[in-house]
Amino acid sequence: MTLSAQVRLDPWEAIAPVDRGLFGSFVEHMGRCVYGGLFEPGHPSTDEDGFRGDVLELVRELGVSLVRYPGGNFASGYRWEDGVGPLAQRPARLDLAWHSRESNVFGLDEFMRWTRKAGVEPLMTLNLGTRGIREALELLEYANHPGRSELSDRRITHGAREPYRIRRWCLGNELDGPWQLGHKMAAEYARVAAEAARAMRQYDPGLRLIACGSSGASMPTFGEWERVVLEETVELIDEISLHAYYEEGDDLAGFLASGVDLDRSIEQVATIIDDVGRRSGSDKRIGIAVDEWNVWYLSRHLERFRPVDWPEAPVLCEDAYTVADAVVVGGLLISLLRHADRVTSACLAQLVNTIAPIKTAPGGPAWREATFYPVALTAAHARGQVLQSHVTAPRMETSRYGSVPVIDVAATLDDDGVVSLFAVNRHPGERVTLDVGAGAGDGWHVATAVVISDEDVHAVNTLDDPLRVRPRDLGAITVEGRHAQAVLPPASWSLVRLRQGWPAGPTRSLASA
Ligand code: AHR
Repeated sequence: MTLSAQVRLDPWEAIAPVDRGLFGSFVEHMGRCVYGGLFEPGHPSTDEDGFRGDVLELVRELGVSLVRYPGGNFASGYRWEDGVGPLAQRPARLDLAWHSRESNVFGLDEFMRWTRKAGVEPLMTLNLGTRGIREALELLEYANHPGRSELSDRRITHGAREPYRIRRWCLGNELDGPWQLGHKMAAEYARVAAEAARAMRQYDPGLRLIACGSSGASMPTFGEWERVVLEETVELIDEISLHAYYEEGDDLAGFLASGVDLDRSIEQVATIIDDVGRRSGSDKRIGIAVDEWNVWYLSRHLERFRPVDWPEAPVLCEDAYTVADAVVVGGLLISLLRHADRVTSACLAQLVNTIAPIKTAPGGPAWREATFYPVALTAAHARGQVLQSHVTAPRMETSRYGSVPVIDVAATLDDDGVVSLFAVNRHPGERVTLDVGAGAGDGWHVATAVVISDEDVHAVNTLDDPLRVRPRDLGAITVEGRHAQAVLPPASWSLVRLRQGWPAGPTRSLASA
């Protein structure tokens, strides 16, 4: 059986411009993300800084805009000074977050050099777990002050003459979580975050500051945490974070519909932001930073988080991602695009090896996971404005989220007048014919159409078979005037690029014409 669904797009119905900040990622000192991931001295592709050239190439291909660093849970016990200066003087420390030995061979200066080579913007996470405002200000001075002060001169001595001018800062990480070093009650965190934000703005009012929201919408304090934090910080911050991870479990249909949960979580946080803004009389528009999101098989790894021998850069959370995982990642990106008016940044967690779209073999090749493709294709083609998508689709039952539409869609209209339509068919067993109707224009012209799908939804890419899962041609798109029809396979994510002869970028004047 083939199901039918319709989506209607109008050029003047824009939600918001596509912010490149939506295509961020995350590098944590966790497992082999840094050591053996970004950094592997002696690897055949390694440059003079010890950075893997093959990884740098894949990071550029992924289209990453900003990278959050150095954690994650790791950040809440980190002493940034340990990772700068002559290698011989850098101490090895115990990382209590992942029970690992941290050599500190890679630190802030290495990371900043790496961001320049990768062409990404840094997003620094401050340690507000075991440390506080003083250390935050010291790091800010080391990183951003031009010179003629103790810490900025130290940076210059370490070889970085120009200040790093880091603009984006996370005020701690997941401090709502009892697992976090320095875990706090909402009011305690709100106070520390407000003090840190005030102090940092005393140095530079132009910084972009992100307060910790909840580490997940299933946290018992979700909602109340955001309200308390926002009441104290609303005039001091720019964004509040939200973290969202999903895993398959025994409900494939529900898993494929994970975007439903992300939609709800974003909308709940947005309601709280609006409510606090209204009650406090603030007209500051606080954004949502989904600064950790992905499919993560956390439950498979819990027992590995406490190794007794404190290994250095152990293999941790390196699951191979399936076709189903890639469809979910594509679906989560659709949810982020749909909320482009509220979500101002987002970071796929993480970037290399650990919970990552890029994998490496020590001394050997790097390859793309199945999840790499929806991220790279969305980052490359979601440009211009996000359009409102009016979807009519059959529904299916899931045990996680009840009844959900089988189809989810986001569309953008770029400056060249090209519509990029991102569509997920969440149905595990049925094809769906999707009719794309244009509310204006002459007729569709198809540019490209690719799909991620497979007879085996659990197929993966591996070192031995790195191209088993990759985008394939979606097949013929039928065009009749203002209607284009594509057949979306079961459990699939697709990108269809179309031209309509619309002017570049939606305009209000068209609406009134
Ligand atoms: O990304 C892995 C971990 O997930 C991060 O360290 C933490 O912030 C979150 O719980």
